[in-house]
Amino acid sequence: MKILVINGPNLNMLGIREPDHYGKETYADLVKKIHNHCDKNGVEVETFQSNHEGALVDKIQEAYGNADGIVINPGAYTHTSIAILDAVKSVSIPTVEVHISKVEEREDFRQISYIRLACVKTITGHGTDGYLEAIDFLTKETVKK
Ligand code: DQA
Repeated sequence: MKILVINGPNLNMLGIREPDHYGKETYADLVKKIHNHCDKNGVEVETFQSNHEGALVDKIQEAYGNADGIVINPGAYTHTSIAILDAVKSVSIPTVEVHISKVEEREDFRQISYIRLACVKTITGHGTDGYLEAIDFLTKETVKK
């Protein structure tokens, strides 16, 4: 079981950016938390972050044949990127959308999620625990099949 966890723009600024929305944990803390959780549960995991839309598309394409599940927080590209939506559709890998904040209670422009159309589940507002919930969901889904 191999999971790829992808974070989009500005998620490298966790702990610094808008702590009221995103908390005080840093991106390094998040990566450590994900790896500890996966080690405990015998899940192979790779984490990746980029501020660039094309790099996110490249990473999703690379997952084809190499990952059993994708957890993705596309950051602001959630609300704009058809290219990332198409990339997830192209690889047909079960994908969970995660947002640290409760996007549904924020600005109107955050109410659109293109990637959601290609995702098996969306988790919002659970802070960084949402990533672990997404990993657990994908682990159980894949075992079920
Ligand atoms: C976010 C929500 C997005 O609207 C925002 O642009 C982000 C982070 C979240 O994790 O809550 O960068 O995806």
